[in-house]
Amino acid sequence: MNIDNIKKQFPIFNNKVHNNDLVYLDSANSSQKPQVVVDRIYDFYTKEFSNVGRSVHYLAVAATNLYENTRSMMQKYINAKDPNEIVFTKGATEAINLVANTFGQKFLEEGDEILLTELEHHSNYVPWHYLRKLKGIKINFAEINNDGEITIESIEKSITPKTKMIAITHLSNVTGAILPIKEITSLAHSKNIPILIDGCQGAPHLKLDMQDIDCDFYAISCHKMYGPTGLGILYAKKKWLEALPPYQGGGGMIRDVKKEGISFGDLPNKYEAGTMATAQVIAFGESIKFLNQIGIENIEKHESELTKYGEEVLRKNNSVKLIGNPKNKGSVLSFTLDGIHAHDIATILDEDGVAIRAGHHCCQILHDKLGLTATARASLGVYNTKEDLDKLNESINNCKKIFDR
Ligand code: ALA
Repeated sequence: MNIDNIKKQFPIFNNKVHNNDLVYLDSANSSQKPQVVVDRIYDFYTKEFSNVGRSVHYLAVAATNLYENTRSMMQKYINAKDPNEIVFTKGATEAINLVANTFGQKFLEEGDEILLTELEHHSNYVPWHYLRKLKGIKINFAEINNDGEITIESIEKSITPKTKMIAITHLSNVTGAILPIKEITSLAHSKNIPILIDGCQGAPHLKLDMQDIDCDFYAISCHKMYGPTGLGILYAKKKWLEALPPYQGGGGMIRDVKKEGISFGDLPNKYEAGTMATAQVIAFGESIKFLNQIGIENIEKHESELTKYGEEVLRKNNSVKLIGNPKNKGSVLSFTLDGIHAHDIATILDEDGVAIRAGHHCCQILHDKLGLTATARASLGVYNTKEDLDKLNESINNCKKIFDR
């Protein structure tokens, strides 16, 4: 992999931050966009724009074909059985809300339980929390071990006869733990429990095969996959999309509307109400091509080497404490620095052009468990290099000097 060539494809790196080259270490939050994605949005609006799935004029038909083409590309990318198992949403958050809301409406009753883990970010907790109020359900949390991992044993221990859904992250955005989702899925199914995987952090970094994992639902955030904001994907097995009610009502998702009643459209239209994020969907096709050109296996390898390097470098830096030590770790390096608040670290690093995230990373439950209010986090993408991690370390040392540590 030639990272210089890859980096050149991202126009953001032509800019300086506080007169420094940008070292972007916040891809778990959102990735940067390659030029092809930016161009595709511009071209679509300037040459090809029309709403999709409604009119029969030339532009409308062409736009509809482009929109559906991204669906087919995504089906192949994650090896789903059927393109109609790919539902476009406004984000991974909406994808999870869709499942919590429709599954809750149809299948949950007072006293039923949902099993999450202590690693979940708010998008995979808050939607289920609403059901506590609406339906009187209970939420259980599988506990992390000392390395910040979730093991199959921890899930098994937390399943009860009342567990009606397991909803877990693929890759923790704080400890970096990669969960054994295939094994957990098979355990869930052996007990007749459906499973939702929150793939916000998994999808941008790991090879996905829905038929192999066999999960019931998988939620994806496109803006973390070198794609546009305002777009997510829900993969759901066809049997669920057929069984669940629609999530939102509006144009595009109906077959027949009468004063007496309404019938709903075929899949996946049943779940795509109103005018969708058309330009984003079409531009996301370029993100998939970009990922395919490099090869997700190569990205995985590159990021895994970088993560190991980053861990080595930070471990040698006394007063840096890495959060979590999972055996199977994704490209996230969360840390604390003795006596310096995470927001101060991030602010000082920013002066050097080093962009990291500080705070609870939308994981307050995990931070409570760790006894921390905030951590600093460097997270990697395909464009990062060892030099970026050296720069991170150098900048951490500047920070220590400023605080006299
Ligand atoms: N966007 C969130 C993150 O930064 C969840 O990890």
